Amino acid sequence: MTETTTVGSTRVWDLPVRTFHWLLVALMAFSWWSGENEEMEWHRLSGYCILALLVFRIWWGFAGSRTARFSQFVRGPNSVLAYARTLGARPGHSSDGHNPLGGWSVIAMLAVLVALVTTGLFAIDIDGIESGPLADYINFDQARSAAEVHETAFNITLALVGLHIAAIAFYFGWKRLNLVRAMITGRRAVSEGETVGDLRWSPVKALIGIVIAGAFAWAVSKGFRF
Ligand code: HEM
Ligand code: HEM
Repeated sequence: MTETTTVGSTRVWDLPVRTFHWLLVALMAFSWWSGENEEMEWHRLSGYCILALLVFRIWWGFAGSRTARFSQFVRGPNSVLAYARTLGARPGHSSDGHNPLGGWSVIAMLAVLVALVTTGLFAIDIDGIESGPLADYINFDQARSAAEVHETAFNITLALVGLHIAAIAFYFGWKRLNLVRAMITGRRAVSEGETVGDLRWSPVKALIGIVIAGAFAWAVSKGFRF
């Protein structure tokens, strides 16, 4: 077992990533509740907010700080395999952002969330009373299929979130790394001798992302009919 000496902390997650994450968690819980209880006004509203969050996060994957960028955490199979081989090592080192394996779980979660929201937009219920704002661009059977895929996407989301939380518990229990604290405070531990980079981000770019995301989600909520 190798010992790691930590010598203070450094910033790892910018404010927009953390805000995105915890808003997403709250809204997903609310969407689940409102979907199951047929509170469809609330369900759609919550879904539009999740849509805006996803658009923002995709923008931020190109315009955000170092650790928010897809180019930093989407890695090839060699890096993923090399990382996977060290998975059991303890105590773990704090990664400077998502590790190569975690990076792909983030992509998987974002992809299934996009599928969940998109199918919701086209879905209709069995009586044809409640529907997403884009359902009347397709016929009833297609919209029913969208509703079925919506439910499947929801179940896949639940499985991925379960895996996500299990992985975080594993890092905490086995590798002695508190990833949740880092996602709240934005800071991670620094090991002795490690050089750390700055975590710069532009509030102007964040604002541009918020405007694009808000405008897109609003247009979708209107079914692109203004
Ligand atoms: C803009 C986004 C969304 C729209 C427009 C939307 C729309 C709908 C519609 C129309 C239904 C009724 C389908 C039916 O009765 O067969 C539904 C059901 C449901 N939705 Fe969504 N949804 C959205 C996002 C989400 C999200 C993010 C979640 C994740 C929690 C979610 C979870 C559910 C669940 C659990 C049901 C009930 C499925 C069932 O048991 O029939 N939806 N949604
Ligand atoms: C609906 C449930 C959840 C969803 C959809 C979700 C989704 C995500 C996504 C997309 C990321 C990547 C963040 C980014 O780069 O933008 C992430 C990271 C993270 N999430 Fe969640 N999350 C959920 C619940 C939770 C919960 C309940 C916890 C706490 C127990 C948690 C803790 C974390 C942590 C610590 C990270 C950073 C992981 C790392 O260090 O690489 N998440 N989550």
